[in-house]
Amino acid sequence: MFGRALATLVYLVPCLGKIYEDVAQLPGLSYDFVIVGGGTAGNVVANRISENPKFSVLVLEAGVSNEGVIDSIVPFFVEDLLQPNIYEWNYTTVPQPGLNGRNVANPRAHILGGCSAHNGMVYTRGSADDYNRFAAVTGDAGWSWDRLFPYFLKNERWTPPVDHHDTRGEYNPALHSTTGINSVSLSALNWPIFSQHVIETTQELPDEWPFLLDMNSGKPLGLGWQQSTIGGGMRSTSATSYLGPEFINRPNLHVLLHAQVSKLVDPGSENGKLTFGGVQFAQGSGGAFFTAKAAKEIILSAGSVGTVSVLFHSGIGDQAALTALGIPTLLNLPSVGQNATDQPVFHLGWTVNSTQTLNAITQNTTLFNEDYAQWNRSHTGPFSAGGTTHLAWVRLDAQTFASNNFTDPSAGPNSPHIEVSFAPGNFVTPTSSNSISTGIVVLSPASRGSVTINSSNPFDSPVIDVGFLESEVDVFIGREAIKKVLGLFKAPTWQDYLIAPITDLEDMSDDVLDEYIRNTAVSAFHLSGTAAMSAENAGYGVVDPDLIVKGASRLRIIDASVFPFVTSGHTQAPTYVIAERGADLVKETWK
Ligand SMILES: Cc1cc2nc3c(=O)[nH]c(=O)nc-3n(C[C@H](O)[C@H](O)[C@H](O)COP(=O)(O)OP(=O)(O)OC[C@H]3O[C@@H](n4cnc5c(N)ncnc54)[C@H](O)[C@@H]3O)c2cc1C
Ligand SMILES: *[C@@H]1O[C@H](CO)[C@@H](O)[C@H](O)[C@H]1NC(C)=O
Ligand SMILES: *[C@@H]1O[C@H](CO)[C@@H](O)[C@H](O)[C@H]1NC(C)=O
Ligand SMILES: *[C@@H]1O[C@H](CO)[C@@H](O)[C@H](O)[C@H]1NC(C)=O
Ligand SMILES: *[C@@H]1O[C@H](CO)[C@@H](O)[C@H](O)[C@H]1NC(C)=O
Ligand SMILES: *[C@@H]1O[C@H](CO)[C@@H](O)[C@H](O)[C@H]1NC(C)=O
Ligand SMILES: *[C@@H]1O[C@H](CO)[C@@H](O)[C@H](O)[C@H]1NC(C)=O
Ligand SMILES: *[C@@H]1O[C@H](CO)[C@@H](O)[C@H](O)[C@H]1NC(C)=O
Repeated sequence: MFGRALATLVYLVPCLGKIYEDVAQLPGLSYDFVIVGGGTAGNVVANRISENPKFSVLVLEAGVSNEGVIDSIVPFFVEDLLQPNIYEWNYTTVPQPGLNGRNVANPRAHILGGCSAHNGMVYTRGSADDYNRFAAVTGDAGWSWDRLFPYFLKNERWTPPVDHHDTRGEYNPALHSTTGINSVSLSALNWPIFSQHVIETTQELPDEWPFLLDMNSGKPLGLGWQQSTIGGGMRSTSATSYLGPEFINRPNLHVLLHAQVSKLVDPGSENGKLTFGGVQFAQGSGGAFFTAKAAKEIILSAGSVGTVSVLFHSGIGDQAALTALGIPTLLNLPSVGQNATDQPVFHLGWTVNSTQTLNAITQNTTLFNEDYAQWNRSHTGPFSAGGTTHLAWVRLDAQTFASNNFTDPSAGPNSPHIEVSFAPGNFVTPTSSNSISTGIVVLSPASRGSVTINSSNPFDSPVIDVGFLESEVDVFIGREAIKKVLGLFKAPTWQDYLIAPITDLEDMSDDVLDEYIRNTAVSAFHLSGTAAMSAENAGYGVVDPDLIVKGASRLRIIDASVFPFVTSGHTQAPTYVIAERGADLVKETWK
């Protein structure tokens, strides 16, 4: 068994030559490009820039190696990654008034691959409207759905499910690419009874819950099969794909782990714009500081929290706030850390008359080990996928908003307001009973929060405020979603299968539903928009449409912090696509 496990690891990480653990092993500290953060976006940018052998690239990643991290390799183990652990920054929000004063975890990955190495692996591009809104607010048509579409295909390597079942009718091949870098697949049919009920719902209630062949068409409205960033039964991350053996062996690409960037250094001026000559980072157990020089550009890809932290500690942010902490302001940019947007999610669960559930595996050591052994042998079976099987995308009609005096916060008429995920297991309360659950996400919240700092020490945790449910319309959308989901489970197909709701919300008043939402909502982990792009010459924003920091030169931000609005879905595919185009913008500058 051990021999086989070892073989698996060798197969996964065939070459570590260029991924350094110790700064002393690094051939040098002067590069053309220094990328801060080897996360979802950072590794894409590193890969694409280093395609040109004349450009030297260094990635500085604060976190640990992904090599052999079994929780990050076996898709089923995703839940293990959500607890405080060495692969996390362990962030928590400040108390949220909209959540009745609760604070909620806001995990961010601290591992090569970033959040792509610990996320739920759900692959959703969002709606065409989302990107067309990006283009409209930035004045750059290059951010529109049509213009970005080729970048989705550059990113995606469509892969068959591990059980090789006939996938006709489960997705639209015309929307996908088999020649990109990061694996995407449909899962094996691990939960046939549950899946049958979900799909039968679309036949019994086709008006409310129409079947959707493929949710990655740009018009994601309806209920369909989930696609995931999984290939061959293993999680596919920016580290396993964009830093795969054919790329990491490039002599011009180096990655240094355990390297936390504290700030940008060596400020200067070029054509009236602020520049930095390099970045300062701490490395090794002694916490010694080093400087890496960037002759061409510094690219911040440290994510929605990390990027903002580095900006503040470098003197880029709101002048009054920086002065209060004793940090000299080099660039007064009040939007840094503002407009932070995350999506709240809450769950509904039912006990069921079926043993084909996640509970049956997690609470039965014998079965757990059988399934684990199967995955070890062949990367098949229930451990080859995460917990959810299908997703539904629901749009409330315009009249619903108007008659309640709310403004529709979505990006446009083909964008959902609500996501409903379906799991043959329970994420609501620990229960030993066989159960199922749905996760309800408010996709385009009107609420905004912030990421700020309250200390001049770059190693202190930033202050994260997601502002959940501060806008009444977000609670309203959540409440309407509950009513719709309760209706879904009235479809005949569920009647002999459901036993009882875990929390009975049937016929409850709006106030009761609102309290349920405020008392149970947590983060969907899609924090974005903290260093948003805006039009050139806009009176707000942090980066221009070319992702260069406003008022600076040779300093770019390429990660989820530049989203001007959160997309109406999960955010890793949008992050990948922003990184792919972002890398092209860098190449354009230096061609
Ligand atoms: C628990 C969880 C589950 C999720 N599930 C899904 C999902 O199922 N589907 C989906 O589409 N999206 C999901 N998301 C969201 C999605 O994964 C993220 O939006 C996206 O991956 C963010 O990419 P990024 O490049 O902006 O940042 P990250 O991927 O977080 O990369 C930032 C990297 O920078 C490093 N870093 C930070 N600060 C520093 C510093 N000072 N110096 C050096 N390095 C630094 C970090 O360690 C990290 O590796 C999930 C997110 C989380 C946290
Ligand atoms: C997060 O918490 C875990 C467990 O408490 C700890 O081992 C790890 O070092 C923490 N992460 C960071 C970045 O401090
Ligand atoms: C937040 O974003 C909105 C546009 O959605 C913009 O009008 C506003 O100025 C931004 N606020 C800050 C502080 O950047
Ligand atoms: C479960 O289903 C079986 C067979 O249909 C039935 O006999 C049994 O009563 C059901 N159990 C419950 C708790 O509904
Ligand atoms: C646990 O799983 C084993 C193996 O599948 C099975 O034989 C056994 O009946 C299960 N136990 C319970 C209590 O369900
Ligand atoms: C599967 O392999 C892992 C090592 O990769 C090992 O720790 C685990 O015990 C194995 N599980 C089973 C049930 O064989
Ligand atoms: C909407 O606003 C109008 C005018 O202010 C008011 O008369 C009406 O009662 C409001 N409706 C709701 C549902 O709040
Ligand atoms: C900074 O904010 C955190 C909460 O995020 C808090 O625990 C800490 O006490 C604050 N520190 C200062 C100096 O205000």
